Amino acid sequence: MPGSFGEKPTGTDTQAVFEHPGRFAVEYRPCRAGEGRYELVMEGIPLRAVADVVKTPTYAYALGAVDASIARMQEALADLDAQICYAVKANDTHAILARIAARGVGADIVSGGELARVLRAGVRPKDVVFSGVGKRADEIDAALAAGIASINLESAAELDQVTARARATGTTARVSLRVNPRIRADTHPYLATGLAEAKFGVPLEEAVALGRRCLADPHLELVGLACHIGSQIFDAAPFAESLESLRGAARALADAGAKLSRMDVGGGFAIPYTGDEAPMDLAAWARTVGPAARALGLRLVVEPGRYLLGNAGVLLVRVLACKTNGARRFVVVDGAMNDLLRPALYDAYHMIVPVETTKGALCRPVDVVGPVCETGDFFALRRPMPEVAAGDLLAVLSAGAYGATMASTYNTRPLPAEVVLDDGAAAVARPRQTLSDLLARDVLEPVFEPLGGP
Ligand code: LLP
Repeated sequence: MPGSFGEKPTGTDTQAVFEHPGRFAVEYRPCRAGEGRYELVMEGIPLRAVADVVKTPTYAYALGAVDASIARMQEALADLDAQICYAVKANDTHAILARIAARGVGADIVSGGELARVLRAGVRPKDVVFSGVGKRADEIDAALAAGIASINLESAAELDQVTARARATGTTARVSLRVNPRIRADTHPYLATGLAEAKFGVPLEEAVALGRRCLADPHLELVGLACHIGSQIFDAAPFAESLESLRGAARALADAGAKLSRMDVGGGFAIPYTGDEAPMDLAAWARTVGPAARALGLRLVVEPGRYLLGNAGVLLVRVLACKTNGARRFVVVDGAMNDLLRPALYDAYHMIVPVETTKGALCRPVDVVGPVCETGDFFALRRPMPEVAAGDLLAVLSAGAYGATMASTYNTRPLPAEVVLDDGAAAVARPRQTLSDLLARDVLEPVFEPLGGP
């Protein structure tokens, strides 16, 4: 597995930020606090100022870094006939979606909720693809009404459902078949989706038969094939392999009369989570995948989520207390697994650095933990960190993707604030959920009614 899970990098996180200013959308700048002190800055703004105004825990996103990753991907794919459809599940904050849409990027959605969001953010329906292993009738209806580019079918049962909804609504559904290419990618087991035992897609052997069913169905227009092998993958080879493995099916369907126009290769482009990991070389990816893509003669669709956002965001937290239990030293912060679930769920490595520090500060291993009542509520275990004290601010890096979108209110903790930073200016993109909003969801005196009958 890449170092983004579990593994310990060779240097400290603070050192990595000094060595790679900007790679994680932040950099240390000498600060006024005193000789040799440095403060963490994002988009020219000291993160301390953000925390002072908006409080913590707060997600801060650097819009310049989002633009830069979009530009890197667009440039790398320039020689291929390719379309970028951003995987909205990585970060669905409107300000981010609007920025991405304004750069001409489409969207990969997995729910009716995400469809509503991307349309509101200005993504054109013809640039939207709908992935996901299960879709409700109302979600299919909304996609048909919007006229999106493709509903990606994941089973024979779903094919029947989409046909039924298209018939009922008097529309034609543009569909692609998501095929499970049975490719093992080097990533966390929860993030590998292309394995034979995964729930995703249809088996390769069934793809042609299902495709033929689409062709015979007047309510369906088969526009392409799709696959997605997993997430946080550095190596380009498995992407090329999965394209190769879908080639036979694409040819057989074309022979059967299909007018395929697109091959959706999914997302999964990795980002660095440690100072040891280099950013993914997308130009090399394009060189590796290019031949297979050109041989297919179809438009390539890519669905990056993490790549566009991951390194562009941080989660700001404040130290509540430092304590020692036996040999273990704990730094208790005001953010927790409900705000950023990845460390608890995947043992994911997120760099954690003080918002103010000294270069070369002595580091000692600590567990950075949240207040939630679970031993699994940690951001880092035995992590070498400079000395910190209650009241200090920390930044959990690479939290722009799958951070806020996976947040919950577990332990009745309101959802964190989200702030966008752009070239020296800051704006609240999502205010912190208020406690009264959270409490207001509950019906205080439920009105019971008979249900079901005899
Ligand atoms: N397309 C499909 C069909 C997907 O299922 C996914 C992610 C993507 C695109 C985008 O993948 P990306 O480019 O972001 O790797 N919560 C996990 C990641 C789950 C990804 C699920 N599917 C995490 O925090 O690492």
